[in-house]
Amino acid sequence: MRILLLNGPNLGRLGARQPEIYGSTTLAEIEEAARARAQSHGHSLATFQTNHEGAMIDRIEQRDYDAIVINPGAWTHYSWALRDALAACDVPVVEVHISDVKAREEFRRVNVLTGVVAHRIAGHGWQGYLEAIDWVSG
Ligand code: DQA
Repeated sequence: MRILLLNGPNLGRLGARQPEIYGSTTLAEIEEAARARAQSHGHSLATFQTNHEGAMIDRIEQRDYDAIVINPGAWTHYSWALRDALAACDVPVVEVHISDVKAREEFRRVNVLTGVVAHRIAGHGWQGYLEAIDWVSG
């Protein structure tokens, strides 16, 4: 299985960005650990991070994967365009949030991806990415 790991805006700065909320593990370290976990299941992992909504949708449109794991960052709360792209990708999508979004500001309780993602993991730190890999691996 080919798993695509996607990270949206501001997640390229993981490790340095608000470590009290998001921890000190960098995105490169997370991607490396996620690749090792995917390989332990016999799967491959491709990764992509962007701060640009259109670039993310272009990547999803490439359709070169069998499952998606995505941390959509703030797009979670308002991007109907990302919702439409994920709804049309025809593979299982697992949404990951490092922080417990429901326990934070009110605007983070809004999630426009509900209904198009197969599974959501939030508040488990960066290890949530590994749980997502396990989940799509069945
Ligand atoms: C996040 C939560 C979002 O609300 C926020 O905008 C992010 C990161 C998380 O991983 O906890 O950028 O998706």
